[in-house]
Amino acid sequence: MTNGRNRQLRFRRCITEGEPVSMELFELGEEDIPTPGPGQFLVKTEALGTSPAQRAYLMGSASRFHPPLDPGEIMRGRGVGRITLSNHPDYAVGEAVCCSTGWQDYSVHQGDETGMVKTVQKIADPQDPLYLHLGTLGASAFAAYFGLLDIGQPRAGETVVVSAAGGGVGSIVAQIARIKGCRVIGIAGGSDKCAWVRDFIGADAAIDYKSEDLDARLGALCPDGIDIYFDNVGGETLNMALKHIALRGRAVICGLISTEYLDPPPPGPSNYFNLIYKRARMQGLVVWDYVDQFPEAEAELAAWYRAGDLKPTEYVLQGLTSAPDALQALFSGANRGITVVDMTGE
Ligand SMILES: NC(=O)c1ccc[n+]([C@@H]2O[C@H](COP(=O)([O-])OP(=O)(O)OC[C@H]3O[C@@H](n4cnc5c(N)ncnc54)[C@H](OP(=O)(O)O)[C@@H]3O)[C@@H](O)[C@H]2O)c1
Repeated sequence: MTNGRNRQLRFRRCITEGEPVSMELFELGEEDIPTPGPGQFLVKTEALGTSPAQRAYLMGSASRFHPPLDPGEIMRGRGVGRITLSNHPDYAVGEAVCCSTGWQDYSVHQGDETGMVKTVQKIADPQDPLYLHLGTLGASAFAAYFGLLDIGQPRAGETVVVSAAGGGVGSIVAQIARIKGCRVIGIAGGSDKCAWVRDFIGADAAIDYKSEDLDARLGALCPDGIDIYFDNVGGETLNMALKHIALRGRAVICGLISTEYLDPPPPGPSNYFNLIYKRARMQGLVVWDYVDQFPEAEAELAAWYRAGDLKPTEYVLQGLTSAPDALQALFSGANRGITVVDMTGE
């Protein structure tokens, strides 16, 4: 229970290489609920999202996009919530927003914050539960939507291969590709997760990269090559996908979780010569480039969701203190779909 107090998870010490994210790294404290000043508003957190980038905050070194956290700081992260007090003319009490809540019950905002972490997005058509706006109708889905549709440019009948297909972004990529009439092959770790990718997400086939020969399976499943490879993991998976890229294929580089935190970074993919031979294209995605188009993406995703074409894939943990486990699930692969922390029950 919040009991009229603001509980917070504060960063206690840097994570060591290979160490799992756990409560060990944080201190649970509480303070008075902050009071918004002139032009500010107060948000009560209803759910927290997760992102692999949050591990970089804990490493004590600057990531490519964000500064590290200092000990004692509240863990950084985006969440969804409702405005409970407002001194801002454009933000009314009761409105739902997605913003940089941090790992805490309450946060104060100005409304004009900008940048990847800080931007406040109003949720025009709030669904119940609100955490859908972090996942199936929010940030994870926006990465899938713009990466696949704008960079991938899918056409009906094409073959789309997506890595981390059982994770947040990947589970939505696979579904949008199916909606667009593509043949979808998901890559995921473990037979159970692969079964989920096929049976729940609706992929035409799934490859267990942990136990199967990825090269052989891609060759067998994509005899005419991969038209779109949506990459969430990098490393050898990307390398094998490039080996099987189709003529004029597109590789969408969304994430590289398998190598992102290795120091020194491993060399790039040796099969990149195939981009020349196949006149293929490899392009990176930064979803925040599309921030002005988030409302239209949200509207289309919501229409697919209401029609039953887009299944919500949230993997929900309960309570503020489960946030470290939620983040670790991205690295252990324990998650199915989009990992969120629901705080409505406390
Ligand atoms: N570019 C952008 O703008 C943007 C925006 C959002 C997210 N992203 C990126 O998109 C990717 C997916 O993010 P998400 O939040 O949706 O996470 P997620 O896919 O829900 O979780 C990460 C998944 O990666 C897989 N994984 C973990 N370690 C791995 C390894 N060593 N090798 C292969 N697979 C591994 C796990 O799946 P298995 O169990 O199948 O191994 C895990 O479920 C991340 O790389 C993230 O950084 C990029």
